[in-house]
Amino acid sequence: MQSSCAEIRSDIRDRVLEITIHRPERKNALTMAMYTAMAELLDAAAKDPEVRVVILTGTEDAFTSGNDLADFLGGSASGEESPVFQFMRALYDFPKPVIAAVSGYAVGIGTTLLLHCDLSIAEDDAVFQLPFVNLGLCPEYASSYLLPRIMGQAKAAELLLLGEKFDAQTAAEVNICNEVVFSGEALERARKLAAALALKAPEAVRLTKKLLRRGTQELGLEIIREEAGHFQQRLQSEEFREAATAFMEKRPADFSRFD
Ligand code: COA
Repeated sequence: MQSSCAEIRSDIRDRVLEITIHRPERKNALTMAMYTAMAELLDAAAKDPEVRVVILTGTEDAFTSGNDLADFLGGSASGEESPVFQFMRALYDFPKPVIAAVSGYAVGIGTTLLLHCDLSIAEDDAVFQLPFVNLGLCPEYASSYLLPRIMGQAKAAELLLLGEKFDAQTAAEVNICNEVVFSGEALERARKLAAALALKAPEAVRLTKKLLRRGTQELGLEIIREEAGHFQQRLQSEEFREAATAFMEKRPADFSRFD
């Protein structure tokens, strides 16, 4: 199973597919080509009996810093035909267990994609953030629905409106991840869990995953689509342009001129 992009690496061993986001010089920010490669790998793995479990991981100091902001400023789409949506859909519909191993930064979709993994392991120095409002954007990947559901309205409002960074302990307390391990140990722990899952009865595992999600599956997709429509519009907004330009220019964003 070959990745179509050098910055997304794949490796199958003992029925476990490891997908590694590897663009450390940009803190693993995701370009359209990287989303496409991950979507292709997941679609292929869904059908491949040689894959029973997927591990999604990054590099030492970043899981992913989210969407590449230069890509977004350059006009890359996030609508339904876009690579971002194709990736979200591939992970959302993926029938086998997915385990995330998080080291370093998990920003934006780096946090929201964890809501669609079955198990997430975070290192104790991992840093999470939902900076959508700070960027003039809005929540994506059903996070506006799933976050209040897993952590309550007040905490979800805090994380989404203030958009501040939070640590692995907090991520575990609010049910974004399952377990916190020492720095450098997330992948090893994920591999242990994946090996255990890969030995279990595969149909029973897939059915259990499906049943666990049946209550929210259809509504979740509807919400992903609704959010993606808003997100796409926000990417055209002056508020986003100011925020992304400010990030590139390494200065704070100034929203004082907006109504
Ligand atoms: N898109 C584009 N480039 C990014 C990026 C992103 N999401 N995240 C990091 N980079 C780039 C930086 O611009 C920097 O480039 P430079 O070396 O040319 O200056 C390089 O990657 C290293 O990042 P830097 O910001 O210097 O690392 P840091 O350790 O100080 O901070 C983050 C790490 C993740 C906190 C910070 O990079 C950040 O906030 N990134 C943006 C996250 C974001 O808003 N994502 C979009 C969500 S929709």
